[in-house]
Amino acid sequence: MTHKIAILPGDGIGVEIIVEARKLLDCLRDDFGFAVETEEALVGGCAYDATGTPLPEATLTLAREADSVLLGAVGGPKWESLDISVRPERGLLGLRAELELFANLRPAILYPQLADASTLRSDVVAGLDILIVRELTGGIYFGQPRGVEKLADGQRRGYNTLVYTSSEVERIGRVAFEIAQKRGGRLCSVDKANVLECTEMWREVMTEVSADYPDVELSHMYVDNAAMQLVRAPKQFDVMVTTNMFGDILSDCAAMLTGSIGMLPSASLNAQNRGMYEPIHGSAPDIAGQGVANPLATLLSVAMMLRYSLGEPALAERIDRAVSVVLDQGLRTGDIMSTGMRQVGSAEMGDAVITALRADAS
Ligand code: IPM
Ligand code: MG
Repeated sequence: MTHKIAILPGDGIGVEIIVEARKLLDCLRDDFGFAVETEEALVGGCAYDATGTPLPEATLTLAREADSVLLGAVGGPKWESLDISVRPERGLLGLRAELELFANLRPAILYPQLADASTLRSDVVAGLDILIVRELTGGIYFGQPRGVEKLADGQRRGYNTLVYTSSEVERIGRVAFEIAQKRGGRLCSVDKANVLECTEMWREVMTEVSADYPDVELSHMYVDNAAMQLVRAPKQFDVMVTTNMFGDILSDCAAMLTGSIGMLPSASLNAQNRGMYEPIHGSAPDIAGQGVANPLATLLSVAMMLRYSLGEPALAERIDRAVSVVLDQGLRTGDIMSTGMRQVGSAEMGDAVITALRADAS
């Protein structure tokens, strides 16, 4: 069976890092017998420029028909002043909603080789391995009503709605509990139950669901405290599960514990484990087009894809190992550079991973 992968490079450094991911997929096909077929489409600002919408119908169709989607990044200053309804980010949110990718997995792992790259003391972050499970198709990101209206007195009134149904909470809860079962057996649900009714219900549902997972230890934490604990003592966490917006914020925070957001992959899954894979970082317009972006998060996203959607855990392991080998060799892109290491660009980093992969196979 040939795996069909829809590739959506998007904007900014998305384009450059996806080139490296393509090289990796070619290598998996040519040297490891991995049957894969890819097709590219536009999403984000480039799609808006070409078609007037950040998520063209053709892209959506391709993504729907593919076994997995690999996305680079979207957005950039060029499109910031567009109406919110056609901004590049809409393309991403549209894909998440249309493909029903409600479960967003965001690991934050500190590679021992990069302990010095973190802004936190190495004893605080050494050995860090946490996973944030973010609800991705509900909450305040999608709640209705929303908008900005003009009031009679001439003021404007802006509003968004935080809304979850109990079944939405339950399904993301089950994903998180199941992952926790396979990891350290601890799940921390993050909410703001002391203030927001919606997340008070979230907490109740998580507690109900926990009855089905007696082997997982469930705890609850308010989001403000969770943010503090993430920088104070992050290793207390194993798996965290939270709402769309809290997950957006906490996952950036967790990412930085590892030294660079340029290292972290993510998976967004639907109920059948079909998914979209993308680096956590954005389109980095400040360095776009220079060939210096770190491609490792994207290569690790390919590994996640192999693991979670395409049933190839052994190949995924190989990619993870190859990344580790390249870090051992002292190769670093600018974002993870430290003294004594050798600074390389995106292409050299991508090539080194492929070389390590091939060496591991022979
Ligand atoms: C993320 C990003 C997106 C989000 C933006 C680009 C819409 O920040 O994936 O974390 O807010 O979800
Ligand atoms: Mg974000």
